[in-house]
Amino acid sequence: MIESDIKAKLSFSDGTPDIDLPIYKGTVGPDVIDIRKLYGQTGKFTYDSGFLSTASCNSKITYIDGDKGELLYRGYPIEDLAHNCDFLEVCYLLINGDLPNATQKKDFEELVMHHTMVHEQMQFFLRGFRRDAHPMSVLTGLVGAMAAFYHDEIDYSDPHAREVAQIRLIAKMPTLVAMAYKYSVGQPFIYPDNSLSYTANFMRMMFATPCEEYKVNPVLVRALDRIFTLHADHEQNASTSTVRLCGSSGTNPFAAISAGIACLWGPAHGGANEACLQMLNEIQANGGVEKIHEFIAQVKDKNSSVRLMGFGHRVYKNFDPRAKLMRETCYEVLNELGLQDDPLFKLAMTLEKIALEDEYFVSRKLYPNVDFYSGIVQRALGIPTEMFTCVFALARTVGWIAQWEEMITDPEYKIGRPRQLYVGETSRKVPNITVRK
Ligand code: ACO
Repeated sequence: MIESDIKAKLSFSDGTPDIDLPIYKGTVGPDVIDIRKLYGQTGKFTYDSGFLSTASCNSKITYIDGDKGELLYRGYPIEDLAHNCDFLEVCYLLINGDLPNATQKKDFEELVMHHTMVHEQMQFFLRGFRRDAHPMSVLTGLVGAMAAFYHDEIDYSDPHAREVAQIRLIAKMPTLVAMAYKYSVGQPFIYPDNSLSYTANFMRMMFATPCEEYKVNPVLVRALDRIFTLHADHEQNASTSTVRLCGSSGTNPFAAISAGIACLWGPAHGGANEACLQMLNEIQANGGVEKIHEFIAQVKDKNSSVRLMGFGHRVYKNFDPRAKLMRETCYEVLNELGLQDDPLFKLAMTLEKIALEDEYFVSRKLYPNVDFYSGIVQRALGIPTEMFTCVFALARTVGWIAQWEEMITDPEYKIGRPRQLYVGETSRKVPNITVRK
């Protein structure tokens, strides 16, 4: 971190002496005020419950400029990566800091594709779940259980042990996600085929059966691969911060990633694509395009808790660059499948247009996020709605594990331990049970 010549001065009206706080500069983006010594010097904490103005770490992985609608992975714009690289190249980039050359790409693909199988015992663990369990609850359990299956290299201060864990996670997530799906529909598990690409292998494990081979369609594989790329990392979002906080205790990385999956599940985060498709289906069932204005009125009603799912973002206040790419992919997939007139896609486009012209959304800077169109693409690919967030988790695993690695190797690494503003009772005595109210 580069220290700025400028200092922040903090003054108090109660006579506490002023203090100067150092400011650090990033390579791009807002500077940060270093408050680490604030408590020691003043006896006061800062208060920022939703992390609205707090940088929880320094990172070289992903940069977002929410006002410009810019997203960079290791400095490369997401548009460039989505158009010119496949997902495994993006994985290599996020983990290693640079794009692979041809030899590195081949070696990395081989390495990942030779770790796709999971321990055979894993399927017995899976069979303990009810078949109607939500696949995200199953995935949380399965990935957590990996800590029990792969504990041979337990010393995560060893870079090699960390690398093996990273590769295992990237390689085995598609297998686990496909297993969770097959289990939910009562079909036999399909073992990985390492001769296929990462994404084609995942699609085969999802859609082939022992009686029917899956025909790989390159346009559809490319579309899903792009979904993976667009979801691969997003700096310190809720699930990534969960992985960092959980991992900061030194816990097993599979356990930390499992915590990230649990966080991602929520409808305000990764669960939004599922919630968005459900919302579109409901509008469609209640009258379709004709009913959009009625739905928007409900969203704007202060007394209703209805939100326009797939809209709004904590950081993007101009547009989400991933949403544009996702809409492009949506066109490609629907054209390939002859679904150009898909009613849900038409409904989504009309809803987007109406919302973008509505003062409520304009004044609050609410724009479509990546999840507005990703549900429609996934549905067209044949992925069932309840699996959407699992696909997101598969893609985000590389981001989580790259952020975990960065944290573990940061010389300033400490267990995360936020403080609080206590507003409860002051110290009091326990009354005898006979006199309690
Ligand atoms: N629909 C309607 N109103 C909204 C929406 C929405 N989708 N999003 C925000 N608002 C309104 C809020 O009601 C609030 O209005 P007010 O100022 O009148 O009270 C204002 O916009 C600010 O909203 P906040 O909730 O404070 O914004 P925050 O940054 O905390 O929330 C979030 C961001 C959670 C993504 C929110 O926009 C949302 O719930 N969106 C829908 C869910 C969604 O699509 N999530 C996916 C995010 S992307 C991802 O995780 C991959």
